[in-house]
Amino acid sequence: MRSSCKVAQSGAVLATLSLLCLAHEASVLDDSSGWSNYSFPDDFIFGVSTAAYQIEGAWNEDGKGESMWDTYLHEHPDFTADRLNGDVATDSYHRYMDDIQIVKDLGVKYYRLSISWPRLLPNGTDNNVNNAGAKYYRTLFEELIKVNITPVVTLFHWDMPTALMDLGGWSNPLMVDYFVDYARVAFKLYGDIINFWTTVNEPHQHCYNGYGSTIFVPAINSSGVAEYLCSHYILLGHAKAYRLYDTEFRPYQKGKIGITLDAFWGEPKDANKQEDRDAVETYLQMHFGLYAHPIFSMEGDYPPFVRERLDTYSEYEGFARSRLPTFTEEEVKALLGSSDFFGLNHYTTYLMSPSTMEPGWKVPSLEHDTRVKLEQHPKWPKPGADWLTVYPPGFRKLLNWVTNKYGRNVPIIVTENGMCDHGQIDDYERVSYYNKYLYQLLLAIHTDGCKVEGYFAWTLMDDFEWTDGYTAKFGLYSVDFNSPNKTRTPKLSAKNYRGIVKSRRINFDSFKSPISTYL
Ligand SMILES: *[C@@H]1O[C@H](CO)[C@@H](O)[C@H](O)[C@H]1NC(C)=O
Ligand SMILES: *[C@@H]1O[C@H](CO)[C@@H](O)[C@H](O)[C@H]1NC(C)=O
Ligand SMILES: *[C@@H]1O[C@H](CO)[C@@H](O)[C@H](O)[C@H]1NC(C)=O
Ligand SMILES: *[C@@H]1O[C@H](CO)[C@@H](O)[C@H](O)[C@H]1NC(C)=O
Repeated sequence: MRSSCKVAQSGAVLATLSLLCLAHEASVLDDSSGWSNYSFPDDFIFGVSTAAYQIEGAWNEDGKGESMWDTYLHEHPDFTADRLNGDVATDSYHRYMDDIQIVKDLGVKYYRLSISWPRLLPNGTDNNVNNAGAKYYRTLFEELIKVNITPVVTLFHWDMPTALMDLGGWSNPLMVDYFVDYARVAFKLYGDIINFWTTVNEPHQHCYNGYGSTIFVPAINSSGVAEYLCSHYILLGHAKAYRLYDTEFRPYQKGKIGITLDAFWGEPKDANKQEDRDAVETYLQMHFGLYAHPIFSMEGDYPPFVRERLDTYSEYEGFARSRLPTFTEEEVKALLGSSDFFGLNHYTTYLMSPSTMEPGWKVPSLEHDTRVKLEQHPKWPKPGADWLTVYPPGFRKLLNWVTNKYGRNVPIIVTENGMCDHGQIDDYERVSYYNKYLYQLLLAIHTDGCKVEGYFAWTLMDDFEWTDGYTAKFGLYSVDFNSPNKTRTPKLSAKNYRGIVKSRRINFDSFKSPISTYL
């Protein structure tokens, strides 16, 4: 998932509610009913997502090396809200057959999951492949394929091997090559049966929270410096892994490979103010275009606006060179077009307005470089996490923004979308969230002409949610963490999603709350 509830609490420092202009009260409170008038195309990809560290457990079994999350959380138990970690999680290393069964029960034909880099390569490097780890993923993929579910495999969903983190992780330029070595091992081991890959999940959340602050591991806290190093080398790692696949494996493996980026949508705090509308664009360029432009634009490289701003600010601040590293011409070319689809993770929308400084902003930092203040709309529902307000139209607007900016070169695949609550089985709010967000996706396809070809719900089951530990529940299935079998139980939202996948339409009346809720 894109970030955690605790992130948002920190995010909320800069999003302290104040008097807001309510000029653009949206139609989120509309009560939809009946069947959606549009339907999902027959070949539309429906899936569900998870990530290795959030579900596997078995952190030290069968020759697995440590990831930086293992090592850091053992040393800093207070880092998570409930002082828990991913040592056991949903125990999917042992209970993957249960996972396959519930994915199958949803009726989806795609399951997006990630490989734990240190389970496959305990030291991070390709001189030492852990056979038990290699076999685990082989079996998992084969069992999925047996029941007609296509595995969509992410190579890097944040669990950097500790041995490589000790060398600086993504702030070290050599990480690009280590990542490519790892990708080669994965393509060789599984490319005969895996034809749908993503390289990296949400580099923005990873770099911003992990390198630019202390919200995520590795908690480097080098704001304004390491977060851009991380962005830079993670982009290059992605590009080189893509080129490796494209030249050496695709010719006979025939798969597709892309990257997953994350974005909030932004609404101008006051829609009548040009400066607020500009702030939305600035925010999107700094937090999202930074990653998307080098890959998906026509001309490549960082967005000119971002390049110029970082160069100017760095010089003014007395840095010997720009805090944003520079791509060589060859690197610009390697990045350009290095994704067969636009993987997009989206959860929420903020109100935006310009600001030169806010309490809590460090100098330098991505926030201070961006100079946009984020606030939450007081009327938008907030069902579980401080950072996540529900504003379905923001999803459609984001899909349109991506389409308009990056053309129709590649299809958009929504690789994550969902919301967190307190874990209730009768999760009417999640049902409503999915119905409304998916309806916005239908509008984006049918009335706006956006090329959206797939959608993955986050997440299959309640899991370890990074700094929130197990306190944030995003699952379609509930997990009884106290039971030895970590029993999975479908929530209403699982049944509702199954209905959507089956009928290719949304029935807004399937699971209406008996009591009237704000969602
Ligand atoms: C579907 O419903 C939406 C929202 O009520 C409406 O704007 C749109 O025109 C309808 N489309 C069709 C094809 O009926
Ligand atoms: C490689 O990883 C294994 C398993 O985690 C560990 O025992 C070994 O010490 C590591 N080797 C090096 C050189 O780090
Ligand atoms: C992170 O760095 C800032 C200075 O930029 C400092 O004020 C803060 O205490 C640091 N946080 C941690 C947890 O070390
Ligand atoms: C736990 O799982 C095992 C094997 O899958 C099964 O034999 C056992 O009955 C289960 N126990 C419970 C309490 O569900």
